[in-house]
Amino acid sequence: MIRLEHVSRVFQDGTKRLEILNELDWSLETGQSIAVMGRSGSGKSTLLNILGGLDREYEGKVFFDGQELKQLNDRQIAQLRNQKIGYIFQSFHLLDQLTCEENVMLPSWFAEMSHDAALQRAKDLLTRVGLAHKIGTRPQRLSGGEKQRVAIARALMMKPALLLCDEPTGNLDEATGEEILQLFLRLQKEEHLTLILVTHEIRTAEIADQVFVLQQGKLVQGKLEDGHAVAHS
Ligand SMILES: Nc1ncnc2c1ncn2[C@@H]1O[C@H](COP(=O)(O)OP(=O)(O)O)[C@@H](O)[C@H]1O
Ligand SMILES: [Mg+2]
Repeated sequence: MIRLEHVSRVFQDGTKRLEILNELDWSLETGQSIAVMGRSGSGKSTLLNILGGLDREYEGKVFFDGQELKQLNDRQIAQLRNQKIGYIFQSFHLLDQLTCEENVMLPSWFAEMSHDAALQRAKDLLTRVGLAHKIGTRPQRLSGGEKQRVAIARALMMKPALLLCDEPTGNLDEATGEEILQLFLRLQKEEHLTLILVTHEIRTAEIADQVFVLQQGKLVQGKLEDGHAVAHS
């Protein structure tokens, strides 16, 4: 479903060249949950931005369902991101001037979806994430965990195939983070999602089918050992 071929990403920091991703090869099958671990600055967010079509300044090729992303024009990339990919951030990225329901419906405003169908889907999703009673509330009145539930509902609005999560529990306390992880697992099954969880937290990585570690610009298959992620030897 997703394949990376020799993907490299270099940033220029003044006169210094930062080689963040280095000829990375990777492929993923659908329906899996995958944790990507790695120390801060190892390039986890950079990798997600490339997978999500947000960053196109890389070397190499990225295929999504056999389609190479660089072959798509801006409109096609926007459509792919709207229809196929959901994105969850550590800091929620909700719009405070909209209600929860409107935040969830937002992706439908850029797609050919009738208002009634969008409203129905938003209500259904908010109910499934446990927020049926907060439909008309604005995000600033919600707790962190509730905000992330709204963000998850919004990410699922257009029935994406892939859900990219960048430190999704990073701003939540342990108990709330655990609830959010359980919610991911349930929705992954219900919506047949491929889930990529970027995290430095072992408890998040533990729920994934597979663990990868990003180190020295490469992704290596990892395993969890004594509370750490280590490369498979
Ligand atoms: N747009 C950019 N310009 C320059 N350097 C960047 C840019 N984006 C990320 N970096 C650098 O690339 C490295 C990896 O960043 P990032 O992918 O955010 O790491 P992680 O998410 O694993 O903490 C960091 O050293 C960061 O400073
Ligand atoms: Mg990051």
